[in-house]
Amino acid sequence: MNRVCKALNIKYPIIQGPLAWLTNAKFVAAVTNAGGLGTLGPAAGQNERFRDPDPVKRHAMTVERMRNEVRKVKKLTAGTFAVNIIPANGGNDGHTKPLIKMMIEEGVPAAVYTGSEVYPEIFQMLKDHDIKIIYRAQNPTASNARAAEENGADVIVETGFDEGGTLPKQVVGTFSIVRMIVDAVDHTPVLAAGGITDRRAVKAALALGAEGVYCGSVFIASEENRTAAKVKQAIVNSTADELLLFRTKPAYYRSLPGPFADHLQELSDQGVSRDEIGKVMGGLYGLKRGMVDGDWDQGYVSLGTGITSIHEIRPVKAIIDDLMAD
Ligand SMILES: Cc1cc2nc3c(=O)[nH]c(=O)nc-3n(C[C@H](O)[C@H](O)[C@H](O)COP(=O)(O)O)c2cc1C
Repeated sequence: MNRVCKALNIKYPIIQGPLAWLTNAKFVAAVTNAGGLGTLGPAAGQNERFRDPDPVKRHAMTVERMRNEVRKVKKLTAGTFAVNIIPANGGNDGHTKPLIKMMIEEGVPAAVYTGSEVYPEIFQMLKDHDIKIIYRAQNPTASNARAAEENGADVIVETGFDEGGTLPKQVVGTFSIVRMIVDAVDHTPVLAAGGITDRRAVKAALALGAEGVYCGSVFIASEENRTAAKVKQAIVNSTADELLLFRTKPAYYRSLPGPFADHLQELSDQGVSRDEIGKVMGGLYGLKRGMVDGDWDQGYVSLGTGITSIHEIRPVKAIIDDLMAD
């Protein structure tokens, strides 16, 4: 049992990163029951956005629907799982604190804290209630890793540009960022993220000094994930060189080709501003359309560059057993 397993009370040092609209209780519990750590993403188990113009009401509804999903996970597993928090504005964003309050009430064991800023008050809230902190900077730097360590992160995840989802603004690959951060921190275990989809990549991450891995794309192509069957098959059939890369807010995004994604790529190639492309992209609801609904006319399919090594759709347990085999 290594330091990551001890810190998080899990069998294998593998965490499933949050996946916006693509998680639900069944999937997250499957990861945890297979010996990893599953994470509920921000829109776990949901199909629609809340459109209430009152932000207080909107935040309250979002927290209550997450409570509902958390309760479902607790019925399916007794192991460690996490909820994703994405604090902004010092944590005073109207959403993060009510979300953490719910996590305390429900006894959620861990939080995946996504954000380049380390807010001591938020770290303290989590630590006061013994919620384990998995810190992942959107834009990783030695200084935010050290700040996370000083404020008591249990593990630190370092993500390279190879990843899927919202890409970091610096174009630094997993190989480079993991080495840099392993050398920068003092005593906190580091996990590698970005492009890790097979055993060879796990070994490479460990060789770079990481003590575990943090994966998204490889789990999307699992039987238990709620992504459309058409998208899972496209992952199996595709290779990294087919992925589009375009500028948008906050920095870059990748997608498999399709009418909507092709259009975003064209706008990017034409030099249209990030703001304008971000508006056309319509936030992460386009991800739901493209990946949960399989509608590529209105949505996109975000994945990391490790997809070349995904050859079949398997149960979560088979994926974890294979990644952890050596
Ligand atoms: C479709 C998709 C949605 C994602 N949504 C989130 C999210 O809501 N919050 C977050 O912190 N990270 C999100 N990520 C990033 C993942 O948690 C993880 O860091 C990333 O997938 C690792 O790279 P990989 O896909 O190459 O394994 C997302 C990734 C993908 C592919």
